[in-house]
Amino acid sequence: DKAGHRHFMAKEIAEQPSRLTSALDHYLTEDGTIRLPAPGIDFTDVDRLTLVACGTASYACLVAKYWFEQLAGLPVDVDVASEFRYREPPIPPRTVALFVSQSGETADTLAALRYCRDKAQSIVSVVNVSESSIARESDLALPILAGPEIGVASTKAFSCQLLVLAVLAVEAARQRGKLDDNALADRIAALRALPGLVNHSLGTSDETGRIAAQLAEARDILFLGRGRMYPLALEGALKLKEISYIHAEAYASGELKHGPIALVDKSVPVIVMAPHDELFDKTVSNMQEVMARGGQVLLITDREGARVAGHGVWETLVLPDVAPLWAPILYAVPAQLLAYHTAIAKGTDVDQPRNLAKSVTVE
Ligand code: M6R
Repeated sequence: DKAGHRHFMAKEIAEQPSRLTSALDHYLTEDGTIRLPAPGIDFTDVDRLTLVACGTASYACLVAKYWFEQLAGLPVDVDVASEFRYREPPIPPRTVALFVSQSGETADTLAALRYCRDKAQSIVSVVNVSESSIARESDLALPILAGPEIGVASTKAFSCQLLVLAVLAVEAARQRGKLDDNALADRIAALRALPGLVNHSLGTSDETGRIAAQLAEARDILFLGRGRMYPLALEGALKLKEISYIHAEAYASGELKHGPIALVDKSVPVIVMAPHDELFDKTVSNMQEVMARGGQVLLITDREGARVAGHGVWETLVLPDVAPLWAPILYAVPAQLLAYHTAIAKGTDVDQPRNLAKSVTVE
């Protein structure tokens, strides 16, 4: 049931505020402490995390790497499951292996989990389908509570995966003595603010539709982001490829001059995801390099970012202010809406894109 929406994807994008609220209510108590299901995780006993997943779920892991490392001082390896499983990676002691999967049935992710289990690793999973193989074979399965996701393009599962990983990173930081009570309360309050902010950014849908009608003419599109926004650039490019069939590539914006800037001319829209955070100026200087070569920049930012760097760009999408740490959860929305509206403009099959299955149960 599409609940009055034209596509499941539109319904699932719109559901994000309420799905994020469910996840917050599940993991946070009334008095603002974090509640993990038994047996929990003793992060004081962990030296390293290995995060493994496929596709969009692997981008959630990449964002989480920034969070665990910056907040909790915990080193993180991220790998796509199809590479991890055949590389036979050595697993040092005091490592937790964490698997992220919407379906919980992705063949490569499940095989990677079993590899770690055979090495007597402690297994945590972040899953949407609680009865899935990945959930069942984990020592601790953390539900994301996104509800059924039907559209092949993952949307609400991505934001809920990010939210659960954010809670986990805050909990790791707390246990490892990296957050005092005030800082902890601030982080949690900022997480609590997310459903309202996501709801607000859904209001940019019409404007995004207008921009997407022009993106639909492009043959190639570049996405740029720095720091925790780099994985969002990857997610934006994947989403667009999947449902609009436009070739899109993402780069860490610092990589631009190491190759991809050679592609830039006026026929290539460049989408820059950059809240006004500590890395903003660096991203803007990369953006100016693009503009100097005729690149058409769509800057996705906040009010301050638009004020400082919005002149001369092709288009600006302005999102509400958000705690910089949690910006990836908010910026998932424009990534999804751009792909959705571009697909609509091209008339492609949004919910059932060609060649793709919702759950990849064969490798
Ligand atoms: O069910 P999973 O989360 O394990 O699926 C992983 C990927 O197949 C999935 O995220 C895929 O990349 C989506 N179609 C992305 O929109």
